[in-house]
Amino acid sequence: MSSTPFERETLLLDTDENGISILTINRPEKLNALNGQVLSDLNDALHHIEESNDIRLLIITGSGEKAFVAGADIKELSTLDRQSGEETSSAGQNLFNRIETFPKPVIALVNGYALGGGAELAMACHIRTGTANAVFGLPEVSLGLIPGYGGTQRLPQLVGKGKAMEMILSGAQIKADEAKQLGLLNDIFDHSEAIEETKKLSGKILKNSPSAISSAISAVNAGYRTNGFAKEAVLFGQLCETDDFKEGTSAFLEKRKAKFTGN
Ligand code: COA
Repeated sequence: MSSTPFERETLLLDTDENGISILTINRPEKLNALNGQVLSDLNDALHHIEESNDIRLLIITGSGEKAFVAGADIKELSTLDRQSGEETSSAGQNLFNRIETFPKPVIALVNGYALGGGAELAMACHIRTGTANAVFGLPEVSLGLIPGYGGTQRLPQLVGKGKAMEMILSGAQIKADEAKQLGLLNDIFDHSEAIEETKKLSGKILKNSPSAISSAISAVNAGYRTNGFAKEAVLFGQLCETDDFKEGTSAFLEKRKAKFTGN
């Protein structure tokens, strides 16, 4: 099979002879945090993958052994105001909606921390597999924020409203076993076998009709459209102007505990 010529600073793309592509988010020194460059490169990658006749299924994972994606880049977040915050949230939502409605199957291989935007990226994928060190969480409230890339909409769909409220309001992290019990992870594999096992699952999908697969993705998604995305983006933007947001993001960057006042 011809190789797919796609190169970007923050991503690696590797396609095998069966048409299974592995897209690796490659910023391991920052635990693959999603800065503007990664999001823009991801958008380009989706365009390339959708157009490519060689690629039939996409697996998204993170570089290194510690993290899938540790969230949106908090250094970049810390500079947002109300308008740029709402725009950033909407742009992230659009990118992740594109993944959710992608015509080829997309599997997240969650190989470590999937926090904030990382959990939201994984939840936008059609299926999630994980390694034993996978950790999910939406810790945005600890930064004075809320999830802004669709997490407030997709987590309740996957785990139910009550558990989603608990996770979003507490910001607590859950480990792989609990994530599997909740339905966030379809399966957990040993680190050394995770790619092969995820490819085996991919093979079960790829023996079926590509047009039926695309239609199935579209039909399943049709039952899960919500009106909450716009509200999420507006509230995300509003919170970007609060003292608590400034305190929460500064505290993370200064490696100290945040002191919130409610202002
Ligand atoms: N944005 C920007 N930088 C991040 C990041 C993020 N979301 N997550 C991790 N990093 C950076 C750290 O600042 C650190 O950079 P440095 O070496 O220049 O100081 C590097 O990645 C390694 O992270 P570190 O915190 O030292 O690793 P750890 O093993 O002690 O902790 C986590 C791992 C995931 C628990 C911790 O990094 C964390 O809490 N990250 C933020 C999670 C979050 O709130 N995400 C939601 C954002 S909306």
